[in-house]
Amino acid sequence: MDQSGALDSLLQEERVFRPLPQLVIEANVNPQELDAARKFAAMDPMGYWEEAADELDWFKKWDQVLDDSQSPFCKWFPGARCNIVYNALDRHIETANKNKLALIWEGEPGDTRKYTYFELYREVNRFANALRSLGIRKGDRVLLYMPQLPETMIAMLATAKIGAIHSVVFAGFSAKALRQRINDAQAKLLITTDGFYRNGRIIRLKDTADEALIGACADCVESMVVVRRCNLGVDMVDGRDFHYDDLVRQERNEAPTEVMDSGDPLFLLYTSGTTGKPKGIVHSHGGYMVGVHRTLTTVFDIKPTDIFWCAADPGWVTSHSSGVYGPLLAGTTSVMYEGHPNYPQADRLWSIVARYGVTIFYTAPTMIRMLMRFGTQYPKGHDLSSLRLLGTVGETISPEAWIWLYKNIGRSECPVLDTWWQTETGMFMLAPLPITLLKPGSVTKPLPGVEADVVDRNGDPVEPGKGGLLVLTRPWPAMMTGLWNDEEGYREYWEKIPGRYYAGDVARRDEDGYIWIQGRADDVINIAGHRIGPAELEAAFCVHRAVSEAAVIGVPDRIKGEAAKAFVVLHHGFEPDDDLIRDLKRTVRNELGPVAVIKSIAFCDKLPRTRSGKIMRRVLKAEELGLDLGDVTGLDDE
Ligand code: PRX
Repeated sequence: MDQSGALDSLLQEERVFRPLPQLVIEANVNPQELDAARKFAAMDPMGYWEEAADELDWFKKWDQVLDDSQSPFCKWFPGARCNIVYNALDRHIETANKNKLALIWEGEPGDTRKYTYFELYREVNRFANALRSLGIRKGDRVLLYMPQLPETMIAMLATAKIGAIHSVVFAGFSAKALRQRINDAQAKLLITTDGFYRNGRIIRLKDTADEALIGACADCVESMVVVRRCNLGVDMVDGRDFHYDDLVRQERNEAPTEVMDSGDPLFLLYTSGTTGKPKGIVHSHGGYMVGVHRTLTTVFDIKPTDIFWCAADPGWVTSHSSGVYGPLLAGTTSVMYEGHPNYPQADRLWSIVARYGVTIFYTAPTMIRMLMRFGTQYPKGHDLSSLRLLGTVGETISPEAWIWLYKNIGRSECPVLDTWWQTETGMFMLAPLPITLLKPGSVTKPLPGVEADVVDRNGDPVEPGKGGLLVLTRPWPAMMTGLWNDEEGYREYWEKIPGRYYAGDVARRDEDGYIWIQGRADDVINIAGHRIGPAELEAAFCVHRAVSEAAVIGVPDRIKGEAAKAFVVLHHGFEPDDDLIRDLKRTVRNELGPVAVIKSIAFCDKLPRTRSGKIMRRVLKAEELGLDLGDVTGLDDE
């Protein structure tokens, strides 16, 4: 179904799903407790988050829960000292979690590795020592260009443990995209792998990392650590490049955990906006760990026996919060899979669920749509009875995909928890709990301690049933602390609708207060749950010598949700033909990497522009889809 069809079905969706009584009885938070939590958080939000902070360990407690005197810049738990890794690893070593599995990893060829909390703790310590011996210190930026390997998690934790700041770049990004992020972050160290397995092939990664380091940016990167995954012969630069295993072999099993201020940066994660430059979203140790811990454990009802599988790639925030930090903070067991979901055939995910007894499976709607195409015989071939909860994130799930997931994967017993959040929010914001009455396609309501509204351009609430702009009306602990080197960019989130956080999404609230996300209000394109900036794509087109100018919009795609369509104006003397189209697609892929899927290219004589010269992508989109995008969108065109 295309996007407009999906929207129609969302608007007409009236089905309601109640949790099974057994699930309600066993839930960590029952309906009365949820009600009480909502009331408490509404009356005393600081008290609510303070209670959440008290569930974690601190080297020194806070002077205050929130200092918003410099609003919109907020300091959560000022005066407190902590380190998220102390809570994610160190403290578990003193408890029964010590010998519990922290990570079950499976490589695409079928090899596996498992780490108990104790083993992971030691491995992280060894790598933390190695980082220190490479001269990495508190506040330095460490860039990870890594696929889904245990070392990715280890490197993130080791970096945070010594107080340095990690920034993971998706392994599907190009050398140029990597270089741009290295430069912006002024990274001192790059961690990568020789290669990894994907869909039966080996993808060489170190070569791309080397390419990224050619040019001006090489100045900031002093060393590169290379994980040996595929035993590939790779060029190692003497004095700059080190193999991971050579470094950790000689290191001690213990390493001191750096004492951080609550607001000290933990990581940077680049995401796309409407401009050509990716934004470096900054998250801190204290607020982030409180928000992620509270929301992950509440929404996914984490129990000591759970096996939690968040299938997201480490290059996205979903994996940071729900694949690495959240599960470890909660002391649960995570699953990580290196490869392609259809390798060697379309049941790989279900076979993993069955073999490890996964209890909670969290993925993106695009994955469900892709797997739906192969029919139900693949899930039917596996025992999925261990599953008790399902979750989705990244884009609206159509009621059809929701029902497919619920019936064929969840045996009509497992609630599908649709979680709305962003790289910027760090934690789940709008989401159900397992006890919540569910309407397929709705993200239900804000979690306790979170306040949201659906408003018009003036900030006035719109009536139920009408589309409006989604805003968050009070600060939350895991909120980004800023944008890297871009104070103005951060302020913009709070200035579009003054005093409120503008999420960039269009939403509708129904008569029951349930929120339905309808898509982006700005021009950001959501390809398979990944944010891609149109300006980044347009710049990539303009690298080709035939292109004079380009405009890119998102168009509906049955599997990926959206794909990019480009409108290209050619320089005089160039004629459009199939070869040129192929060449243009190749150029964009080289510039940005395989994430930049160009569905089609149209050639035109000129592009619609505002009087000030900005491309009016909205006009192209409305024409393309035959839509009236309405009054609430287009805020960015002003
Ligand atoms: O448009 C919304 C969509 O993804 C955007 C955030 O993208 P990103 O920062 O990459 O983080 C994605 C994963 C946390 C949002 O502005 N989005 C996220 N979750 C949902 C969603 N759209 C609809 N329903 C969701 N559950």
